[in-house]
Amino acid sequence: MTDVTIKVQENGPYLVSGAVTIVDADGTVYDVGDRKVVALCRCGGSTTKPFCDGTHSRKGFDAAERAVARLEGGKEADAEPASPPPPQH
Ligand code: FES
Repeated sequence: MTDVTIKVQENGPYLVSGAVTIVDADGTVYDVGDRKVVALCRCGGSTTKPFCDGTHSRKGFDAAERAVARLEGGKEADAEPASPPPPQH
C-alpha cells in the first residue's frame, strides 16, 4: 500500500502526491503518467480541469477555509459554535 497525501495550497490547487488514479464522472481515466505530484484545480477556473493550469493566480482566487480539528465521535473542536440564524420577519 502506498501513501497518498493531499496538500492544500494557499489560494491554489490541491497537490496530490502518491500513486493515484484520477477518474471523471463518466469513468474516463486521466493519464497522469509517472508524475509524483498532481495539482488539482479547486478554484474552478482552470481550462484543463481537473488539473490546475495556474488560472487561480490570474483571477486572484482567495480560499480562506482551513481544516477543522475533529474529536473522536465527530464533534468539532477548535470551531466556534454556530450562531443561530437571524430571526425571520
Ligand atoms: S486552482 Fe489553479 S487553476 Fe484552479
